[in-house]
Amino acid sequence: GLDLHAPHFPWSHNGIFSSLDHASIRRGYEVYKQVCSACHSMKYLAYRNLIDVSHTEDEAKEEAAAIQVTDGPNEEGLMFQRPGKLSDRFPSPYTNEEAARNANNGALPPDLTYITAARHGGEDYLFSLLTGYTDPPGGITLRDGLYYNPYFPGGAIGMAQALYNELIEYSDGTPATASQMAKDVAIFLKWAAEPEHDDRKKMALKALMLFSFLISVAYYWKRHKWSVVK
Ligand code: HEM
Repeated sequence: GLDLHAPHFPWSHNGIFSSLDHASIRRGYEVYKQVCSACHSMKYLAYRNLIDVSHTEDEAKEEAAAIQVTDGPNEEGLMFQRPGKLSDRFPSPYTNEEAARNANNGALPPDLTYITAARHGGEDYLFSLLTGYTDPPGGITLRDGLYYNPYFPGGAIGMAQALYNELIEYSDGTPATASQMAKDVAIFLKWAAEPEHDDRKKMALKALMLFSFLISVAYYWKRHKWSVVK
């Protein structure tokens, strides 16, 4: 087929000691919330996970309070709606798989929490997929509800192009071009799938510093002990 393999992009977090770009994670959350969440859940993320990553505690509380959560039963045995709390997970757009498929011509929008880990190519694939929509090659017609994207295996995807220039407004004033939004949401989803990413690299740096120190001590010690023999 015409399947394209996503190229490797020069992400700022690519270095072995480089952290994720947290301003980008925050913008990516805005893209997810305003665009992707209409069809995709991220049901393993709770609002408290945003604290000190992309939002302050107060901001995360505000984000949570803006959703309505079904809770209960209360003392009268009734279910009720209440504003979200930090411990609440992100809301899902559909109540079940059937409703999700009905709304999407039979296709199922996957939960996005671990999508960069689940798909070959991770954030490179995601960026390419989101910016890769194009007309189908001559001679190929797709049935209703399918769209052409050479990065999607098989080329025919049940998701229409979601990102267009200036679709949203970023709270930090960054111009929201389609590629900017694709980059930011890819980094947000990378963080969601790998929240330990920054700590892992920080630990690696500490371990490297500690071991280089220990190795020099051991080397000096060895030279010292064996000096009489040589
Ligand atoms: C599939 C991401 C917006 C509907 C997917 C996939 C990803 C994704 C990564 C999986 C592709 C694969 O299987 O390899 C996103 C992101 C969005 C977004 C990051 C926001 C920027 C939307 C919106 C809708 C939607 C707004 C509905 C109007 C779907 C559907 C599928 C899908 C139905 C399944 C397609 C198929 O299996 O053929 N999306 N999506 N997505 N998405 Fe989205």
